[in-house]
Amino acid sequence: KQVSIIGVPMDLGQTRRGVDMGPSAIRYGGLYERLTDLGYTVHDKGDITVDILENAEQSGTSNLKNLESVTEASECLAKKIEQIITDGHFPLVLGGDHSIALGTLAGVAKKHKNLGVIWYDAHGDLNTPDTSPSGNIHGMPLAASIGIGHSALINIGGFSPKVKPEHVVIIGARDLDAGERKLIKEKGIKVYTMHEIDRLGMSAVMRKTIDYLRERTEFVHLSLDLDGLDPTEAPGVGTPVAGGLSYRESHLAMEMLEESSIITSAEFVEVNPILDEKNKTGAAAVALIASLLGEKLL
Ligand code: ARG
Ligand code: MN
Ligand code: MN
Ligand code: MN
Repeated sequence: KQVSIIGVPMDLGQTRRGVDMGPSAIRYGGLYERLTDLGYTVHDKGDITVDILENAEQSGTSNLKNLESVTEASECLAKKIEQIITDGHFPLVLGGDHSIALGTLAGVAKKHKNLGVIWYDAHGDLNTPDTSPSGNIHGMPLAASIGIGHSALINIGGFSPKVKPEHVVIIGARDLDAGERKLIKEKGIKVYTMHEIDRLGMSAVMRKTIDYLRERTEFVHLSLDLDGLDPTEAPGVGTPVAGGLSYRESHLAMEMLEESSIITSAEFVEVNPILDEKNKTGAAAVALIASLLGEKLL
């Protein structure tokens, strides 16, 4: 049992600073010890180099902020992920804003054909430069990974798409832009919004998600944005949305994924310690990672 951790101190995919310190906050929350206590050999590969905002090229248009720096870091991350999978380790990526999923998925998809993705998030992250209300790339990585958007984002790792739209399941959505709703309908992306989770319960939603991906895919990447959780329980995020998933529901989801053994890579993103309350969100990330990787009370 070997896990390789890689931090991505990225804050250029959005405009609230501090999320680049997310990997530190998660490590500070005791990640290494929690995982070694579970019997894993943990290889912490440190952080990817990411430009600081002051030095980031401003050649990107206003609808694609910091395009060059985001692309550069994504290419670097993709290569590292590929190597981790070649080594036979479980890749665990710590963010950083959600734009880092561009690089993670490029690396994972290069090695794992027939990949499924669980996108645990308040948002769809299915914008393109044409539909984005903000120009923030962290709102675009899922669209780019299914092959839609700016060519520089689509072609990270030199191929596209990374995942088929029908192999994506979004869980926890409660803030979707008009262009994202259109894309979801057009591409037949499976979405469990807060409405379905309230109605069916998290247990049934995870059962359906696991069955759905098991039937269709061989590998599954979990991309967990901490803003999927309710802001009362995960306040340290840049784009909080009320009415989110509880800490308990999220643990149940992680525990069911662990029992199913379908997850072959994971990333935990958008932890912003500057906006957090005494590292509550960093600690939640650590606890959820531990559940995903097998921690149980008894
Ligand atoms: N939909 C909004 C946008 O595109 C918010 C995206 C938030 N994404 C995130 N990864 N927190 O700007
Ligand atoms: Mn640079
Ligand atoms: Mn989000
Ligand atoms: Mn997100």
